[in-house]
Amino acid sequence: MSILITNIKQLLQARAHNVLKVSGTEMNQLSLLENAYLLIEHDTIVEYGEMKDIGGIEAETTIDATGKIVLPTWCDSHTHLVYAGNREQEFVDRINGLSYEDIANRGGGILNSAEKLQNTTEDELYNQAVYRLKNVMRLGTGAIEIKSGYGLTTESELKMLRVISRLKRDFPLKVMATFLGAHAVPKEFKDNKTGYVDHIINDMIPKVAKDLLAQYIDVFCESGYFSIEDTERILEAGKKHGLTPKIHVNQFNAFGGVALGVKHEALSVDHLEVLNPKDIEALKGSKTMPVALPSCSYFISIPYTPARQIIDAGLPLALATDYNPGTTPSGNMNFVVSTACIKMKMTPEEAINAATINGAYAMGVSNMFGSITRGKKANVMITKAIPSYNYLPYAFGENNIETVIINGEIIE
Ligand code: NIG
Ligand code: FE
Repeated sequence: MSILITNIKQLLQARAHNVLKVSGTEMNQLSLLENAYLLIEHDTIVEYGEMKDIGGIEAETTIDATGKIVLPTWCDSHTHLVYAGNREQEFVDRINGLSYEDIANRGGGILNSAEKLQNTTEDELYNQAVYRLKNVMRLGTGAIEIKSGYGLTTESELKMLRVISRLKRDFPLKVMATFLGAHAVPKEFKDNKTGYVDHIINDMIPKVAKDLLAQYIDVFCESGYFSIEDTERILEAGKKHGLTPKIHVNQFNAFGGVALGVKHEALSVDHLEVLNPKDIEALKGSKTMPVALPSCSYFISIPYTPARQIIDAGLPLALATDYNPGTTPSGNMNFVVSTACIKMKMTPEEAINAATINGAYAMGVSNMFGSITRGKKANVMITKAIPSYNYLPYAFGENNIETVIINGEIIE
């Protein structure tokens, strides 16, 4: 199977050298070719260049992209896409004045989702996730990280992770799995958080690792959830079982989670809505990718991650959706890119880099995803005819993605 895309108005993120992430001022550069072609064979990008150099290339399928832009598919490095039911009542409660914290304190929030998930069969959970996954693929997501964390019992956490494995097997997009047993303290351990942390370490982590159900380990390091000490114990245990840290920090409070992530060589530290100069210093010179989740800020009306401070300090930044039933019931990366430009003052170039190559880095797959590079996976999307790539974030709320190709397959 081969696909040739011709007459591409702008081919974005075409990088001859396989960079793994971009940082600081480099984020404002999107390597691009005007009037270009792109050749895919099977699941691989094999060639691209300017139309004048196309020579006699032929393919089984040819797509004329006159007036259209081609770019790598989005790499969404932080989602909770596997969940049961929804929480639209909490949304209404927030409109009527309750805060996210108020709702959690009266047993709603993550515990509400956990109860629903525990009462949902594995097949039903899978079917709900399939619906969401198909939707996000059509919106241009070609690689996705999915977390557990709404099980909060060994059995239900493993159930979530098995659903993620099934999605991985059944769909062409790249799926990476993260174990997030430490998402909230379940009711059964209400007055015994240490007991729950022990349970995660002694029972859950060994089982997750034995069945190879996750690559990463996450903790919701936050006041009222898991402290620095809890987080450190869990990360250490995870690392002993081969799970790399990728953690939730600084969503509501900054108390050293970023430095802890860096200390444990976390692949990413995510949220960062509340960030202080010490956190920025901790990230300098590290391999840890900061990740911003602007749809979460939008939906629950909390501050946006200070992208300008992060990028202007010479650091990289990735963008992801945080798709989950409580704080972000949307997996639309196009909205994320727009919101990053509109609310976080990222340039379109920075936002596109953050949602492609840096997103791929934040889930450990940027060697094969996130740019148009010979030999990388054929994950590319074609826009509708639009004036320029700036139009993508500008026309917020509109779907300008016309064709999505994932692993060399055209997604219907
Ligand atoms: O990333 N902050 C922690 N976890 C999710 C929200 C979980 C929920 O409310 O269900 C997040 O925003
Ligand atoms: Fe999250």
